[in-house]
Amino acid sequence: MRFLITAGPTREPLDPVRFISNRSTGKMGFALAQAAAEAGHEVVLVAGPVALETPPGVRRVDIETALEMLAAVERELPAAEVYISCAAVADWRPEVCSPTKLKKHEMAGTLRLVRNPDILKTLRPLKGTRTFIGFAAETGEPDAEATRKLREKGLDMIVANDVTAPGAGFAHDTNRVTLLFPDGHREALPLMTKHEVAQRVIACAQTLATQTE
Ligand code: PMT
Repeated sequence: MRFLITAGPTREPLDPVRFISNRSTGKMGFALAQAAAEAGHEVVLVAGPVALETPPGVRRVDIETALEMLAAVERELPAAEVYISCAAVADWRPEVCSPTKLKKHEMAGTLRLVRNPDILKTLRPLKGTRTFIGFAAETGEPDAEATRKLREKGLDMIVANDVTAPGAGFAHDTNRVTLLFPDGHREALPLMTKHEVAQRVIACAQTLATQTE
């Protein structure tokens, strides 16, 4: 099967020196890419700026901003059967990016932002029989909020990730997640390594993709 996986943060530049971003290190998304490749799948990994080695057998496409991630996913999606969106995409970007470093006296006290497109929602019309899986990084009531996103984005599965739980979320080598499905079925996984979580997510993706073939 052909997997398209996104990982890491996006960076939204304000000038050549400063940017808005988030705490994603790419570990969860890279673990997914590694697990999919180990399971014998073809994998394209669209990665934001992270300090990780590309897993063996994976084709990596590096991007920096949300708009670049959207363009890369749009380009790679037609060849994919499964799309897993693990990236922490910045929802907003500065309205203006200065080509030169802003001097302190040129900077206003408030930053004007514009919304980035939601990549999953934008590409939903291209889903067809493809399997779409999202992640939801939450800080409270992860299941309720993730279920809302599962429906709103028309996904086949969402991985609810309480990023405040001990050993879970950003930067850890472990994670604790719950898999949620559109029929209300849920599977709460114990604290595991990100590689073990990835193996379970890839196994579910394979099953879902086989059902929609
Ligand atoms: O990278 P690590 O340090 O290992 O951390 C892993 C992680 C916490 C980043 C990962 O497990 C995780 O939860 N990823 C999803 C982070 C996120 O952005 O969640 P969200 O609830 O904001 O977005 C919901 C879904 O929509 C996600 O699948 C996201 O990729 C997607 N999205 C979000 C915004 C946007 N503009 N376009 C999108 O497609």
